[in-house]
This record gives sequence, C-alpha cells and structure tokens, in this order.
Amino acid sequence: MIPVSEPNLRGNELKYVTDAVESTWISSNGKYIDRFEQLFSEYNGVTHAIAVSNGTVALHLALMALDIGAGDEVIVPNLTYIATANAVKYVGATPVFAESEISTWNISPESIARLITPKTKAIVPVHLYGNPCDMEQIMKIASGHRLHVVEDTAEALGSTFHGKKAGSIGVINTFSFYGNKTLTTGEGGMVVTDNDELAARIRLLKGQGMSTTKRYWFEETGFNYRMTNLQAAIGCAQMERIEELVGIKVKNAERYNSLLKDVSGISTQKTLSDCLNTYWMYSILLDGFSSAQRDEFAEKLRGDGIDTRPLFYLMTDMPPFEGGRKDQCVDAEKMANSGLNLPSSTLLTEENITYIAERIRFHKTNI
Ligand SMILES: Cc1ncc(COP(=O)(O)O)c(C=O)c1O
Repeated sequence: MIPVSEPNLRGNELKYVTDAVESTWISSNGKYIDRFEQLFSEYNGVTHAIAVSNGTVALHLALMALDIGAGDEVIVPNLTYIATANAVKYVGATPVFAESEISTWNISPESIARLITPKTKAIVPVHLYGNPCDMEQIMKIASGHRLHVVEDTAEALGSTFHGKKAGSIGVINTFSFYGNKTLTTGEGGMVVTDNDELAARIRLLKGQGMSTTKRYWFEETGFNYRMTNLQAAIGCAQMERIEELVGIKVKNAERYNSLLKDVSGISTQKTLSDCLNTYWMYSILLDGFSSAQRDEFAEKLRGDGIDTRPLFYLMTDMPPFEGGRKDQCVDAEKMANSGLNLPSSTLLTEENITYIAERIRFHKTNI
C-alpha cells in the first residue's frame, strides 16, 4: 500500500535522540529545546518560537494569551481539522464557522466579514493542506474591526504569502509536528510571535504558570504543555533538512499537477499569486461527487494499493459542533464531500506518483 504520509527520518534524527538519551536530559529541559526553538524562529522570520507538546495546545495557548474567553466569538473555517475549533471551545469561547473558497479551499474573507458581531474577538485562518490563505484581505478585515489573527499553520510550514512565511503574519501563530506533518517530532507543536509580552505569557502558561524568576511560585493557573528534549532532538534534525523536505513536497505536487491536469472532472487547489503552497497533502476534488461516490472511488484506489483520506468533514456536521452553521458553507460542503488526500509523503518515488495518477485517470474515465 502506498501510504498517504510517512515520516522521513533519514537525517540526524537517531543520532540526536541517542545523544539526548545519553545526556539523561529527556524531559523538557536540554540543549535541543533551545536549539529547535532558535532554528524554528530563524526559519520563519519570527522573534519568539515556543516549543509545546502538540499543535492543539499551541492553539489553546495562543487564545489564552490573547485573553479570549466566555462570551467571545472566534471565526474559524468550517472545513478544517477539529483542533482549530476545539481550542476555541477550551477557552470557553464560541467558534463561528465560515465558508471556504472553492478555488483555494481556504476560509473566505467575504464570509468572515459577514460573520463579525460585537462579540467577535479573533479570526483563526487555516492554511489548508499547505495553501496560504488570503492574508492581505484577512488582516485588512481584522484591523478594521480590531480583531486578533491567529494563523493555524499546522499544515503549512514553509509556505509563503507575498514573500512572508505563513505563520509570521498574525499576532500569534501555531504549528503542529505530528507524525504526518512536513516536519515531525512525533507529537509536538510550536507557538510563534513577535510580541515579547505575549511570548512571556505563553511560556508561563505552558509551564504550569510558574514564575520564571521564582521557582515553585505560580502566577496563575497554567498547563503542562511542554515539549521534551527527545522530541526537540528529532525536530533539530528535521530542521537541518527543512528546505529539502519542503522542496520534495512542492516537486511531488508539480508532478501530480502535470499528470492530472487533463483528467476531466478533477479539480485541485489554486494558489494565490505571489504565494508558495507547500502541499502538506496533495488533494483532489472529484467534481460533483457525493461523499458515497467519493468513498467508492477511494475503495477502487485502495484496491490498486493506493491509500487516500477523505478531506475533513465539516465541523458543523459532527456531534461537537452540530448545527452551529451560521454562514451557508455550500462550497465547503462540496469540498468535504468530494475531496480526497492523495499520497503525499516525501518518500514517494516519481514512479509512485505516475502510477497513482494513471490509476486515477483510469477509474475516472471508467465510471
Ligand atoms: C489545521 C490543524 N490544526 C491543528 C492541528 C493539531 O495539531 P496536533 O495534532 O499536533 O495537535 C492539526 C493537526 O493535525 C491541523 O491539521
């Protein structure tokens, strides 16, 4: 079976983890944590990078640090991974679900504008599958209404919007290093910001609220959201190869694009001009398909030894957020029903991609 994703651990990962084990620094202190944060902030062009245990808690910390809580509304895309919406719930605020654009598959700025109320405190755009959102429009809307922007960059490490890294534009931005991500630490995440005060608050909150100057003195109720030195050791090895990993993702997507461009009834993500989509997941829409037809198509590919995933289900179709739809989300629904993530690992061969595209063409023309 050709997998949808596979961690690429063929650099110094084992060497650095072994070094961390031998040093006995296996909890959340140690040289790899500092080094990983440093490498990450340099790569993303941000002042502070704060390593945490996963991308979900990174979002939780970002919203906590911005004092978002009960009675507040936060606009998120309806078509995203559930962590984006869950984090809003964790702080006691209400997620408000926006429509996505059928071209980029990202949150629609028009929908955001329609959903703003006096209770709105923040917007959390998600660069879906590595494709940068229209940050110019989003920042313009946000500044017009004095809203915070938290970029959920879990899927878009290395992507750029008008020359800036995705995840360097909002006031606080978050990343995930789950095993299927472009850069992995097994489980892991990062919170980044240019704001010194917010960075200090995030560091405090991630370490149980303990004062940085007075040991065992707790300033407020915090969390244990720390990353371990072992995870950071893997992260450092991955950072050494980040350009290579991102480059392979982009090259794989170019190959898919050229092989699938004349297959009728298939659409792919469109990238805004002067942006780089790093294609964490290369994905297609099977135009006009119902979710049952899409699942049947996925079964045929599975029979060919090709693993796929459905695009995310709409948040407002699932029990935790059922019925919470405020905007129409017609296009998001079409995408959720008809979309498939194709194998996107950095370990795919050219032959794998040629074979996958050929099987898609075959099944699409033999329906
Ligand atoms: C858009 C998005 N946000 C948040 C997360 C949460 O990250 P994690 O799984 O590291 O908690 C993910 C992870 O898959 C994601 O895709």
